[in-house]
Amino acid sequence: MNKVLIAGNWKMNGLTGDATREAAALADGVAEVAHVLLMIAPPTTLIHPLRIKLFERGIADRVAVGGQDCHAEVNGAHTGDVSAEMIADLGGSHVIVGHSERRTDHGESDAMVKAKAEAALRAGLVAIVCVGETEAERRGGETLAVLARQVAGSLPEGATVKNTVIAYEPVWAIGTGLTPSTDDIVEAHAAIRATAADRMDATDNLRILYGGSVKPGNAAELLALDGVDGALVGGASLKAADFLAIAAAAPARA
Ligand code: PGA
Repeated sequence: MNKVLIAGNWKMNGLTGDATREAAALADGVAEVAHVLLMIAPPTTLIHPLRIKLFERGIADRVAVGGQDCHAEVNGAHTGDVSAEMIADLGGSHVIVGHSERRTDHGESDAMVKAKAEAALRAGLVAIVCVGETEAERRGGETLAVLARQVAGSLPEGATVKNTVIAYEPVWAIGTGLTPSTDDIVEAHAAIRATAADRMDATDNLRILYGGSVKPGNAAELLALDGVDGALVGGASLKAADFLAIAAAAPARA
């Protein structure tokens, strides 16, 4: 089985001083979480500064850095956008695509998310494709149908267990302190894996992360669940101590 991946999403938070401070704090604790893979997606402005600070601390090979979004094109007249190639150029190795805040705030459809994920693969990045139901969809009993539609519509052509990760993030659980029941998470991950299996060769080793209010206090329970291969962490990734505590709670896998 794959090592667990703990991915941090700083969202629109952090200035260069934060990158310096977080890299130092990560360096202090990273040796204790050698059993997991770590990735941080800071704002685009901090990809390079964070990489430099991780290098200076000697942990650039232990903490991967990535983007929070990318444009589908390589370059062109797209003011304010960043391509996957640009993230790779800064030393990024991953990019989150289809986060619910992008889907909601920027009207991103499954087709757009798929195109972005394909751009990630084109640039040699690992695509972290986010899916998840809204509160209304869950109440309406549509969760599994929504997940199936999003996975089928958002997975890139050429997806493999090496270049693609899926993050299950119920929209209503993001930043709210709420999480689904453990049974609901296991059910959702199994459904996502089953849909992905229609689009990919082998999905036993496909990493499916859970995201939404993951904290040091609930990480051990969430990360031990069947079919949960890591976490995508928002708020609690902003402090290295919490991020590392979540990583420490992850089970060791070969
Ligand atoms: P949260 O965010 O951990 O703050 O709930 C998760 C995410 O949006 O990836």
